[in-house]
Amino acid sequence: MKNGLKTAWVTGASSGLGLHTMKALAEDGWQVVAGARSFEKETREKEITRLPLDVTDEASISSFCARAAEITGAPDALVQCAGMLVLGSCEETGTEEFRKVMDTNYLGMVRVNRAVLPRMRENGGGKIVLFSSINGLMGIPFQSAYTASKHAIEGYAECLQMEVKPFGIQVMLVEPGDHRSGNDKYRPHAKAMSGASPYAAEYESTIGIIHRDESGGSDPDILGRKIARTLDKERIPFRKRIASPDQHLAVYIHRLLPAGVNAAILRSYYIKRKKNA
Ligand SMILES: NC(=O)c1ccc[n+]([C@@H]2O[C@H](COP(=O)([O-])OP(=O)(O)OC[C@H]3O[C@@H](n4cnc5c(N)ncnc54)[C@H](OP(=O)(O)O)[C@@H]3O)[C@@H](O)[C@H]2O)c1
Repeated sequence: MKNGLKTAWVTGASSGLGLHTMKALAEDGWQVVAGARSFEKETREKEITRLPLDVTDEASISSFCARAAEITGAPDALVQCAGMLVLGSCEETGTEEFRKVMDTNYLGMVRVNRAVLPRMRENGGGKIVLFSSINGLMGIPFQSAYTASKHAIEGYAECLQMEVKPFGIQVMLVEPGDHRSGNDKYRPHAKAMSGASPYAAEYESTIGIIHRDESGGSDPDILGRKIARTLDKERIPFRKRIASPDQHLAVYIHRLLPAGVNAAILRSYYIKRKKNA
């Protein structure tokens, strides 16, 4: 709390679900400090202060936290949305590409938590929201780097919530299904993917379905408002899945069925063979 206002720090707030969550929190009366690399210098607009932040860079995180703490004190909520993915086959996605996704999505989150936890502990508590994904619960073809990073977040969050409970800190994993929010610049293709790839036909089919599902996905404004409403409650759930009914069903079925059956269902969903191929 600062000047009677609840305070939140939001990472990855320049685009997509982070941007929508930041706006929803500000509309609900939170004082928000927003971080992203494209916020090149500090700017302020009503309840929102934008600060530069690169979650892959310890020095950038440290400056962000120091300045954010001057503005709000320790945050009541930390919302971590920064993320990216690389599309490509497991075989053709390069080690550096895997490393970049892990460094941003998983280690980025770990670094920011490590910088914020001491402040929250000293303040007697807080809420940490970590953006996972439906891909944190099940893999889909040609998104292995992203899927691995989101599975890492799921495991990490289970450990984190047990450790920080005695300090009054609550943890919530947000598991969005497809939302029509993401920017393609955060979804590059692996450099080695090309028309000559042995995976080209299946890759093309899968990418088409991924694009179709994202562009026809759920409303990101609704997700932002759901998170803001949840953060207003005294107790927050450990998992909050925000997805269409069919994606909820897919996760449910995935838990029940044998792995081989799951893989067959997912392959037939994503990989449509051309009639004459
Ligand atoms: N959209 C969906 O359907 C969907 C589904 C499930 C989960 N999610 C998750 O929701 C979150 C947002 O995804 P989105 O697709 O809505 O947004 P997006 O348009 O892909 O935006 C990504 C955000 O992450 C920030 N970012 C990337 N690298 C960063 C870095 N090194 N340091 C700081 N910020 C960084 C970007 O800001 P700068 O480039 O300005 O730094 C941008 O604000 C991600 O964690 C994603 O995995 C999204």
